[in-house]
Amino acid sequence: MRILGIETSCDETSLALLRVEQGRFVVEKILTASQILTHRKYGGVVPEVAAREHAETIFPVLKKMLPLDSRSLARGKVSIDAIAVTAGPGLVTSLRVGVDVARTLAWLWKKPLIGVNHIEGHIAANWLPPAKIGRGPIPKIAFPAVALVVSGGHTELLRMKKLGQYELMGATRDDAAGEAFDKTAQLLGLDYPGGPSVSALAQKGNPRAVQLPRPMITSGDLDFSFSGLKTAVRVVLETKGKKPKAADVCASFEEAVCEVLVTKTLTAAKQARAKTVLLGGGVSANHRLRVMLAAAIAEKLPKVRYVEPDLAWTSDNAAMIAAAGYFALQGKRRSYPLTLVPNANWELGRA
Ligand code: KG4
Ligand code: ZN
Repeated sequence: MRILGIETSCDETSLALLRVEQGRFVVEKILTASQILTHRKYGGVVPEVAAREHAETIFPVLKKMLPLDSRSLARGKVSIDAIAVTAGPGLVTSLRVGVDVARTLAWLWKKPLIGVNHIEGHIAANWLPPAKIGRGPIPKIAFPAVALVVSGGHTELLRMKKLGQYELMGATRDDAAGEAFDKTAQLLGLDYPGGPSVSALAQKGNPRAVQLPRPMITSGDLDFSFSGLKTAVRVVLETKGKKPKAADVCASFEEAVCEVLVTKTLTAAKQARAKTVLLGGGVSANHRLRVMLAAAIAEKLPKVRYVEPDLAWTSDNAAMIAAAGYFALQGKRRSYPLTLVPNANWELGRA
């Protein structure tokens, strides 16, 4: 079976062809047109600009992926068995571009269409083979599992009883972890997106040089709050006197975020009696987070297996959406070629 994945929830127009054969995933093609340079001058994603770029880019990317003339495409002369598209959460105008294209193709080709939750896509990235190899057996992951999803818009801990069954255990009450990285970068005059800039500079800094809070680390629940941390960085930078080095601010900030994320993930894993801990989302590319989480699980929960996605699948991409679509089809989740609409606030696992 071959699945076309489409992702346009934020600022990446991504299309992928994922083949599933004899228990293996084969990422045949992945094309992602990034809008980072467009949005960099604004310091964040401008929704209307993002939607317009998706609309301009999606067909050229599709034609590059499926090099057929428009007549053959319209007649469905493609060996694609299903289409999976991100239907939410995200920017509604951006989501609509991907959903409308997916709906049209599914209708023309008479193929099943799966509306995938973006967070579920980030979790499904854990089942994808390393991008450099492109193929590999679909891993067997033991349930229950706990997934920590950390991105520019989300910070969530989810309990998974099995594939497709989610229970929200905790979430951020204000800024997402990635948003805090982006805002800290802005305060320091570093490039957008802030995560890669802050973590690169952090490697040259001392994580204990600047005293920063660990918000909600002892709150007793599994929620997060990162907006105070960003304010604490601002106060440090605006306080009169000797200014700390930017690298020390980055390292101390990164340490504070990672410590909170790791502590709460361990608590969630214990509470959920998890056999596996999964990681996902743009912030899961963070090296310090990966190292700290792996070490903490090995030390405190040695029976729990820790799984992290290949670095190629941490930021928004259509391969993870195709994988989640495949699992949804396996679970017989419904297909809606003519009726699928984007849901900007689609919450995964909220009771
Ligand atoms: O999942 P993603 O690509 O898009 C959303 O769904 O939001 O996540 C993007 C976020 C941005 O906030 C970016 O700064 C952050 O992921 N990010 C990182 C790193 N790479 C990307 N944060 C920390 N460390 C990184 N290495
Ligand atoms: Zn994302």
